[in-house]
Amino acid sequence: MMRPRLIEAARKARRNSYSPYSRLKVGAAVAAGSGKVYSSGNVENCCYALTICAERGALYHAVACGERRFTALAVTADTKEFVSPCGACRQVIWELAGDLEVVMVNRRGTTRTARLSSLYPLPYKKKSKGRLLNP
Ligand code: THU
Repeated sequence: MMRPRLIEAARKARRNSYSPYSRLKVGAAVAAGSGKVYSSGNVENCCYALTICAERGALYHAVACGERRFTALAVTADTKEFVSPCGACRQVIWELAGDLEVVMVNRRGTTRTARLSSLYPLPYKKKSKGRLLNP
């Protein structure tokens, strides 16, 4: 599905990217069940491993605001190739949003859409104790 509002939010969030080390500005936005959209840019650290990708920033923000259902996530960068979520983000998206629609947008505005289950086919799942978002 075309998601112009979500893509625009991801583009806007990209401007707030803090990425002095990689110089790759990424933006992501997630559409929540409430109808709200939550977004983030990637936020880096001189201790590189502490970097938070744009996708995790957006999802963590939404969950911290009480959202528990998600319909789609968009991710964008000013690159010819699509930026697709890293392995860590795939695991986090699975935990918090399940088999989400992921819309990747390149610098020309071309989109590529994939379900998380095709990007991350055999996720590590914790056994449900009734508290997980996607048991
Ligand atoms: N990055 C994201 O924010 N999302 C992705 O999907 C891929 C990578 C960030 C992490 C780091 O700040 C920079 O891009 C270079 O890897």
